[in-house]
Amino acid sequence: MNKIEIAKEKFGKLLEEQLLRVEKMKQDKDFIDFTTLPVIKIGICGGDGIGPAITSQAQRILEFLLADEVKAGKVEFKVIDGLTIENRIAAGKAIPDDVLAELKECPVILKGPTTTPRAGDKVNIESANVAMRKELDLFANVRPVRIPEEEIDWTFYRENTEGAYTLGSKGFEVDEDLAVDFTVTTSDGTERIIRAAFDYARKNNKGKVTCVTKANIIKTTDGKFLNTFKEIAKEYPEIETDDWYIDIMTAKLIDPKRRKDFKVVVLPNLYGDIITDEAAEFQGGVGTAGSINMGKKYAMFEAIHGSAPRMVEEGRDKYADPCSIIRAASMLLAHIGHKDKAEKLDKALDICTQKEKRIKITGHSDGCTSAELADYIMETIKGL
Ligand code: IPM
Ligand code: MG
Repeated sequence: MNKIEIAKEKFGKLLEEQLLRVEKMKQDKDFIDFTTLPVIKIGICGGDGIGPAITSQAQRILEFLLADEVKAGKVEFKVIDGLTIENRIAAGKAIPDDVLAELKECPVILKGPTTTPRAGDKVNIESANVAMRKELDLFANVRPVRIPEEEIDWTFYRENTEGAYTLGSKGFEVDEDLAVDFTVTTSDGTERIIRAAFDYARKNNKGKVTCVTKANIIKTTDGKFLNTFKEIAKEYPEIETDDWYIDIMTAKLIDPKRRKDFKVVVLPNLYGDIITDEAAEFQGGVGTAGSINMGKKYAMFEAIHGSAPRMVEEGRDKYADPCSIIRAASMLLAHIGHKDKAEKLDKALDICTQKEKRIKITGHSDGCTSAELADYIMETIKGL
């Protein structure tokens, strides 16, 4: 077979998989209402690197805040080990089967960072994050950034299962000179994320939704995203809308006069990945931001930083900053119906890390440990 025939065959297989995914999306219509589940099982999946160290501190805080619910049998915690790079390589899978089965028992998951092999590393395993988003169909990646003193109140709705990520590890080299990757946009996948962004804006009186694409160049897929946005916007006449291209949007986020105007921002996967790191930087860096990966049946809450394996090699994991995963834990509380507890936790985090700062994390032995910071946060909550 010549190389074009081989490439066509590979491409055909990818299209078949994607058409099946579309069918599945069409069948999965209903959202679980987490607040009505009789028992909420919370999976605590530490990941690897500094993940287990910081995630266990977030778990302590959750157990403290949910002590009554645990006693009453309404909330259960399940620790899920095994999502480590060593186990994943041994299984030859982004998520080993036994770990995936455990994750699927938990409609709510708090996940620490996981190590992602890079192109060129000896192992070619898909990112565990990306695999989990696909397996649990976590289509909305919601990333808030708030800086009240600068009037910044942004909520990014990053599409989380499509775009450049759907086939990110399935591109191929047609020959030694030609490499091809693919980006995927579906009607169902686009409609659900855009609706989620508008519903959020409506429920929370945000007043405005911005769509970000590069539809002037990536005409078919980004074009579909933008057109879908314009169509769905008609169902929300009270909400102001605008659209920007990703390049100028990236610039406008630095413009102190313009950036206040952005409220809810909905965008395809890769642009969302990039711009949420930029946005988090204004708030103090990716270490300060939490993130929800939301689907119809599952919700996974995570830190947005990496697994920092070097800190573990140097024996410094106990000094790692747990703030991002604690922020994620607060989002988890709000999501399962405990908005009051989430607000308390956010307030305590602000006091401990910005206003009062009685102890400080530095990542080294001259700073406090993650456990000491968690103790400080819990003490502060008691005094609220
Ligand atoms: C994120 C991360 C992930 C992504 C990586 C770790 C796979 O950067 O959650 O933003 O690219 O989505
Ligand atoms: Mg990222």
